Amino acid sequence: MVVAHRGASGEAPENTIPAFNLAWQQGADAIEGDFHLTKDGQVVCIHDANTIKAAGKNLVVKNTTLAELKKLDVGIKKGPAFEGTSIPTIGEVFETIPEKKKIYIEIKCGLEIIPQLLKEVSKFQLEKEQVVFICFDAKVIAEVKMKAPDFKAYWLADLKQNKDGTFKPSFEDALTTLRKVKADGMGSSRSGIDDEFIARLQNAGFEHHVWTVNEPKIAQWFVDRGTRSVTTDFPGKIKRALKAKASN
Ligand code: G3P
Ligand code: CA
Repeated sequence: MVVAHRGASGEAPENTIPAFNLAWQQGADAIEGDFHLTKDGQVVCIHDANTIKAAGKNLVVKNTTLAELKKLDVGIKKGPAFEGTSIPTIGEVFETIPEKKKIYIEIKCGLEIIPQLLKEVSKFQLEKEQVVFICFDAKVIAEVKMKAPDFKAYWLADLKQNKDGTFKPSFEDALTTLRKVKADGMGSSRSGIDDEFIARLQNAGFEHHVWTVNEPKIAQWFVDRGTRSVTTDFPGKIKRALKAKASN
């Protein structure tokens, strides 16, 4: 499965409707987006807790209303063709999702977003299989699995190399966290992941997912080892390459 990282963010402004629509046009199986809660309790799609990188003006999302956030242009940075693009609400993102396609909802803030997020998901009547929750914060995954056990949730971990060459979290620590929070799987960075890590994770009953992979050969490496999804900034390119290999 090819997941469009923040939409087709290699070619359109990340976490925007043009990026999500482009991902669908390019045949992505799923989109991934980052979500925060606004001052007035709305769920919006933006990577950072503030708007400086996305819009060049520094507003803190949790202290700003949706109406104020909507005035920002988050498209112009990627080129004049995207001028006037605004931060989308989660509802606007849901509206782009074709039948049977999926969304990976990355919770970028804390537990406070969960009640409103679950309300939005049930309002849009997406199938349970179409929605996946992901988060670096294990506490958030635990809460999602407690409140909405029918949805899949993956714990994210960015593996960092220690001075002795090993990686943190270790496989054992990752497994302990996954079991504790009742995650369905792990979304990992590419670094520190080898055959053994993926095999042991699968043998323990957990799915493996990976981000961010923009090189077809590396995507194929993960697919060959049973990694269930590859998140990429270039869904069209990765989809084409994997398809070509599969039909050989
Ligand atoms: O899919 C997980 C990945 O999106 C996490 O990293 O920084 O791109 O949100 P980031
Ligand atoms: Ca993300």
